[in-house]
Amino acid sequence: MPKRAIDISVKTRKADPSQIKADILAVGIFSDSKKPAGLAKDIDKQLNGEIGNLLGMEDFTGGFGKTAVLYTNGRITAPRVLLVGLGEKKELASCKLRKAAAHAADKAVNLKARTLALAIHQDLPAKFDLTDVGQTLTEGIYMGGYRYDEFVSKKDSRLNKLNVLLTDADQSAARKLGKGAKAGNIIGQAQSFARTIANRPGNIINPKTLASTARKMASDIPGLTCTVITEKQLKQKKAGGILAVGGGSATKPCMIVLKYSPTGKTKSKRNIALVGKAVTFDAGGISLKPSAGMHDMKFDKGGGMCVLGAMQAISKLKPAATVYGIIPAAENMPSGTSYRPGDIVTTMSGKTVEIQNTDAEGRMILADAIHHATQLKCDTIVDVATLTGACVVALGKHMAGLMSSDDKLIDQLKQAADKSGERVWHLPSGPEYLEQMKSKIADLKNTGGKGGGACTAAAFLKEFAGDAKWAHIDIAGVEIFTDGSKIGSPGSPGFGVRLLTEYVTNA
Ligand code: BES
Ligand code: MN
Ligand code: ZN
Repeated sequence: MPKRAIDISVKTRKADPSQIKADILAVGIFSDSKKPAGLAKDIDKQLNGEIGNLLGMEDFTGGFGKTAVLYTNGRITAPRVLLVGLGEKKELASCKLRKAAAHAADKAVNLKARTLALAIHQDLPAKFDLTDVGQTLTEGIYMGGYRYDEFVSKKDSRLNKLNVLLTDADQSAARKLGKGAKAGNIIGQAQSFARTIANRPGNIINPKTLASTARKMASDIPGLTCTVITEKQLKQKKAGGILAVGGGSATKPCMIVLKYSPTGKTKSKRNIALVGKAVTFDAGGISLKPSAGMHDMKFDKGGGMCVLGAMQAISKLKPAATVYGIIPAAENMPSGTSYRPGDIVTTMSGKTVEIQNTDAEGRMILADAIHHATQLKCDTIVDVATLTGACVVALGKHMAGLMSSDDKLIDQLKQAADKSGERVWHLPSGPEYLEQMKSKIADLKNTGGKGGGACTAAAFLKEFAGDAKWAHIDIAGVEIFTDGSKIGSPGSPGFGVRLLTEYVTNA
């Protein structure tokens, strides 16, 4: 963990919520009923009807995403009650529960609470499995309690630590919540880690510092190794794609290869590669981007950070699969040593590419990384990348694009998306789109002309996956233009850490 992030921990307590020692007790309120129900009703009695008053005056009606704070004045153990709006009971889904927990943690950080007791899971409809609920709430707490302020000198607006207690008076409920919270803590920490590295600017994170960050992460986790393929070794491997993109930068490109191997009784059944684009800054190269908004291209390493975080979580959750995390890292800069429009580049696979636009660099580094995954004999390759502005136009900031030619893999990733709340939408990438990527003077070109930019980019990538099952997730919209989902911190949401971890550990 970076030194200055908020240290969050989520534990479970078997306790009566009204007697729990905490700075804030968070209670869920559905918008259907005009009167407090369930746990809120119990608390309301002890507060002499204050919750009922508030609902009656319609100052707070339990609308989803809304919160209200009450001061308990010694009438229950916690000095504050945080009412968290859950919306209509029949509309409640696990992604909403995650967001509700995020709102509660966000409030707790803003109110400088040391301890937050969370009891918003009480009175949930029976379809909710409490182990899943424990994980979902825990993930939400990490989302909403996260802050990126390591370069802000004065941090008196927040504390360094937040302890959260998932509270339930029932022993067996508490046990189930605790089981889910265990996985939730691992995934939440991994996602916060990915967010912090993604949020660091280009003068801090470049291919070299990213490689040492990955090495350090792996050295702390048994079962996870990290090797870095240096520029010199990339030259020996004739990895022309990544070398071309990184050629214009003072910091040389490299390919980070993480490997998780299952140990002991857990036999490896599958050999999966997670490949993540890490362009530490995308100026566009010689095809220079316009200056307005260029600063956001420090987030162009988001796919790589997603893989870094997922590898951290996976190696702690220990599924029965060998998993590689392959992160091609390069900085796309204009200079006298940059690659040029018109260049013909020979990629590591031997396929040649005519460069039409040096700003279509993600696919060039991914081409080599995906080919490397096939050499490691991976049977499944999932790549994640902030690849195209076209995907942002198509899907906005709500869903990532999913392209694949394998129906089963599409289903598995859609299921993982549902469970993790990191949503994807299937887009085409078939032979029509590949046609647009063919060059007259090389095997391929790196832009596809008018229309379908997210799909043509995907069709290009598929050419490097050989016989492996392959899927591509374009996270340009969901990673870069999210305003931190208006909860917690602006900047990277660490999109895909939960999605990939869920896919690998449960598919
Ligand atoms: N990193 C960008 C994609 C991007 C653009 C992400 C905007 C988020 C917001 C990528 O490297 C890029 O520049 N793509 C070009 C490709 C084009 C030149 C074929 C694009 O989408 O404009
Ligand atoms: Mn670009
Ligand atoms: Zn890019």
